[in-house]
Amino acid sequence: MFPLQRNRRLRTNESIRSLVRETSLSPTDFMLPMFVAEGKDVKIPIASMPGIYRHSLDNTIKEVKEAWDLGIKAVNIYVKVSDSLKDNAGVEAWNKNGLMQQTIRAIKDAVPEMIVMPDVALDPYSIYGHDGIIKNGQVINDATIEALTLMSLSHAEAGADFVAPSDMMDGRVLAIRKALEENGHHNVGIMSYSAKYASAFYGPFRDALDSAPVDLNDVPKDKKTYQMDYANRIEAIREALDDVAEGADIVMVKPGMAYLDIVREVKNAVHVPVAVYQVSGEYAMVKAAAERGWLDHDQIMIEQLFCIKRAGANIISTYFAKEAAKLLNK
Ligand code: PBG
Repeated sequence: MFPLQRNRRLRTNESIRSLVRETSLSPTDFMLPMFVAEGKDVKIPIASMPGIYRHSLDNTIKEVKEAWDLGIKAVNIYVKVSDSLKDNAGVEAWNKNGLMQQTIRAIKDAVPEMIVMPDVALDPYSIYGHDGIIKNGQVINDATIEALTLMSLSHAEAGADFVAPSDMMDGRVLAIRKALEENGHHNVGIMSYSAKYASAFYGPFRDALDSAPVDLNDVPKDKKTYQMDYANRIEAIREALDDVAEGADIVMVKPGMAYLDIVREVKNAVHVPVAVYQVSGEYAMVKAAAERGWLDHDQIMIEQLFCIKRAGANIISTYFAKEAAKLLNK
């Protein structure tokens, strides 16, 4: 007798393994998330994200050039503005000369081919640390959309290739698309954070931007009335389909690793590219375990990125982008 199927035949050596490999990974799969700070020659380490910094604009440009040279074609931009610029409505978010708008212009100036995708949400500008405007203890949807639309227009005017709403308000993709069209920004795309879960994996990011919801009466303690419940699957598909119907060019699932079932389902449901955000907490876990010598950093990094692609991601936003690109380019 012999086994009817010898599946190991296709694993005999690296040559045959490479022939039958179903997924590939390259620097062009990645987007690099970047935190921008005010000032000059500023480089502030983020304790919970070793290797990631808040850079002032001058250093950000150096980083963008380095990323471009490694083969990375897109950056996601998040800014940290001073508390004096924050209010409830996030008015600073659409300041023509705000830090985000300056950053977009400077990157497009320095590396015109780099795809620039600014984050659209009010949290970096909100005194309350929420993605929308607060009224009577609630994050109000429709007034927030008006603010997000102004914000998106200011990004488009500054030269953004895409805007990336991460706020989870209902109907914001349609409102933003309409405003972009009416103002002649036909070629500015929308990458929508469609299936964004209320996740504790965002902790280190909120450290980086100092943007956690504040602990005050009449301010929601968490983002659960707009970000999704991690127990749920169906609404992720609905959110993605709604966003595509409203004009999203790319839909995103976030976080990554613990949500790969959602990635696959969304991938099967839509006919637009699917992006996955491997978020700050996922990055922090790998760094922490590797620091202790408990996991092999590089192997874990590459394995996770491959698995995110296998699940259905066309694009991965990852803090590992530069490190992974360096390894893949070797
Ligand atoms: C906020 C925003 C968050 C992240 C991206 N955009 C945090 C949040 O929703 O509280 C998290 C990204 C990460 O953890 O890396 N609009």
